[in-house]
Amino acid sequence: MNVYDGERMGELLQARGLTAAREDKLADLIVLNTCHIREKAAEKVYSDIGRAIKRAENRKPMIAVAGCVAQAEGEEIGARAPAVDIIVGPQSYHRLPQLIDAAASGKRAIDTDMPADAKFNRLPARRRQGPSAFLTVQEGCDKFCTYCVVPYTRGAEVSRPWAALIDEAKALVDAGAREITLLGQNVNAWRGIDDKGHEHGLDGLIRALDGMPGLARIRYTTSHPNDMTGGLIAAHGDVEKLMPFLHLPVQSGSDPILRAMNRSHDSASYERIIDRVRMVRPDIAVSGDFIVGFPGESDADFEATLELIKRVRYAQAFSFKYSSRPGTPAANMDEQIPAELMDERLQRLQALLNTQQQQFNQSSVGIGTTILVERDGKRPGQRIGKSPWLQSVVVETGAEPGTLLDVRIVSGGPNSLGGQPIITHERRHVA
Ligand code: 5AD
Ligand code: SF4
Repeated sequence: MNVYDGERMGELLQARGLTAAREDKLADLIVLNTCHIREKAAEKVYSDIGRAIKRAENRKPMIAVAGCVAQAEGEEIGARAPAVDIIVGPQSYHRLPQLIDAAASGKRAIDTDMPADAKFNRLPARRRQGPSAFLTVQEGCDKFCTYCVVPYTRGAEVSRPWAALIDEAKALVDAGAREITLLGQNVNAWRGIDDKGHEHGLDGLIRALDGMPGLARIRYTTSHPNDMTGGLIAAHGDVEKLMPFLHLPVQSGSDPILRAMNRSHDSASYERIIDRVRMVRPDIAVSGDFIVGFPGESDADFEATLELIKRVRYAQAFSFKYSSRPGTPAANMDEQIPAELMDERLQRLQALLNTQQQQFNQSSVGIGTTILVERDGKRPGQRIGKSPWLQSVVVETGAEPGTLLDVRIVSGGPNSLGGQPIITHERRHVA
């Protein structure tokens, strides 16, 4: 979502006549779009500010800190980093131009409001973003997992209206997008009313986009298990443009830890959802998020997570050491886990997930499939595209980005696949 927000801020500034600097060191304005989810990400902002100033040639650039660090730390940022001119939260970045004007007078400009008037209505039209585009449909979170800052930094769950999303999707397709990834902190909690007055969940929006000419692929991320409705599961079985990929974080395989995390699902209910999705879409690639070292996590709790991973079999995943975040309930829980133990657990967990990812990639070798060509590869003549299962596929081809290219997968590494264009029209999908 930060990539999406960054694009929108870029469009906003371009509409005001600014252009992208050829090199960072020549920029008059530097916007750091920040993440507060873990301490490491939040701390990085301060070293980035220092580096930006050192690199700047001749004069000090105007520096804006945007995003969730701005929201969470507000004026404190100015105390720690006096070079910062603008502090703007994720729900008020549509006011960036006014903040720039205000900061030009030399006084620090701050806006961390969460205004009721949606920022999206104040942003200019979408510009070309390449063959694969993001579209934020939902923001915020009401789940209040005990470790997480998102409900505080992004605010309550809000769904963008149907018509605005259909319009933005059309604009993206007109600008060359062949694939749209619907975004939200809880994307599958999206709800809206269509132009005929019918209420829909995310599956309804996906079905509407399925009928949009020019759009070839639909994805969505990130989902919460509790909002995985029957309708959304069914969509995986019969919506042709919906890609066979599901990112569904579980965080832990231990029920006591899931309770302490306030996840409101247990390991069995999570696995039941995965089973139901696999019933309608057997080849679905499942992805997840994991936290190791949540307060009170015992060896047995950690083992339960490894066991869950073995049962689910992930195609890819993100995993993190628990990071204590100010203001969250978990920060005050007893039995914080020592750093060395977290390191050891993370290594074991990642080794298992890496093996599974490698196995998943290996299982693709030999199949024929279609990739969406996205960009140039490292070597001349190479292009990189995405398989339906979100694997990067490297192919020798002259096909332009945006092409849907039939390929045979000829090799599978840990992080990408090798493919060869299929010249005939023969095509085989995995069962
Ligand atoms: N510490 C570690 N990981 C976290 N996440 C969210 N909050 C924390 C935290 N305090 C992870 C979760 C979430 C992902 C986006 O970041 O796994 O799904
Ligand atoms: Fe954070 Fe996701 Fe939990 Fe919401 S559902 S509180 S965003 S981890």
